[in-house]
Amino acid sequence: MKKKTDEIIREVDKLTKLEKDIRYRLMIVNKNFREHSEEEIKEVYEKAKELQLQLMIKKNEEQILIEKRNELELRLKAARETLKKAEKLMSQMAVILGYLCGDLRNIHLQLEDIKEKKHLGIKVIQAQEEERYRLSREIHDGPAQILANLVLKSELCEKLIDIDTEKAKKELKALREVMRSSLQDVRKIIYDLRPMSLDDLGLIPTVERLIAQYNETSDTFVEFKFFGEKVKLLPIVEVAIFRIIQEALNNIKKHSKATNALVKIEFSDNNINLVIRDNGIGFSKESLRKADEDRGYGLMSMEERVTLLNGKFEINSSPGNGTKITATIPIDI
Ligand SMILES: Nc1ncnc2c1ncn2[C@@H]1O[C@H](COP(=O)(O)OP(=O)(O)O)[C@@H](O)[C@H]1O
Ligand SMILES: [Mg+2]
Repeated sequence: MKKKTDEIIREVDKLTKLEKDIRYRLMIVNKNFREHSEEEIKEVYEKAKELQLQLMIKKNEEQILIEKRNELELRLKAARETLKKAEKLMSQMAVILGYLCGDLRNIHLQLEDIKEKKHLGIKVIQAQEEERYRLSREIHDGPAQILANLVLKSELCEKLIDIDTEKAKKELKALREVMRSSLQDVRKIIYDLRPMSLDDLGLIPTVERLIAQYNETSDTFVEFKFFGEKVKLLPIVEVAIFRIIQEALNNIKKHSKATNALVKIEFSDNNINLVIRDNGIGFSKESLRKADEDRGYGLMSMEERVTLLNGKFEINSSPGNGTKITATIPIDI
């Protein structure tokens, strides 16, 4: 269309020029009509008329073509804009699509996470129940039975006092011994629940005491090392460290067959570094995974405690190479 328009514009230009020429000739002929024959004058007239007519037609055509061309140009412009919009929309769609797909992937991961958390939640409740069961058994078998026994014995003493004072005295003495050992049992249960020395003396002396007691009853000799200044930590951090050590020592006693072990606590500028290492039989990650269902919760709850405090937890163990547990907990959680 553009080419056609250009052509017709050129044609009109040419015709305009020709028409101008013929008008000039017409003027000359008119001026000097005496020098030209009637025939000649008529011819020039006819030619001029014809050219004017042609010019009019071509100009008309040109007008129509220009209008059409302009309209087409406008439409082209509009089409280009639509294309631009479509391209923009397409890129937006791509972004949305990517976002949605990514989200779906994330949802999948989140679901896995929730599943794991739920599983862990159940494990934690199970652990609490097991712990309560253990404590109730301990109270039932220890202090509760002793107290029942004491009631009977005190009744016996009451009767004996009038009959045989010496024997009554002896019975009372034995009674006191039983009471004393029962008191020790109760103290041990309270200590298991929460060592009060943690609040009174702080973490390090409490751990020292725990390890000293452990060494009295265990085949493994545990060494304790502490580096740093004895700063007061947040109670939850102290309890966590204490429980981790307690559980790790239980595992050493129960599973490791180790002769030596080390508990190391280090207070650095920002972190508490805890290492518990033994030279026992160790275990493989596969064996942990295989026995997953009926396995205890000790290692898991250790890790859970550390991650809850924004720390890092690591187990290094392999059969025959002992076990090393490392926990790094920020001092300001
Ligand atoms: N110090 C260790 N030495 C050897 N094996 C260990 C040690 N600590 C843990 N394990 C292994 O890891 C398993 C998981 O330990 P844990 O989560 O505390 O559960 P539980 O002690 O109730 O079995 C144990 O059953 C044992 O096989
Ligand atoms: Mg355990």
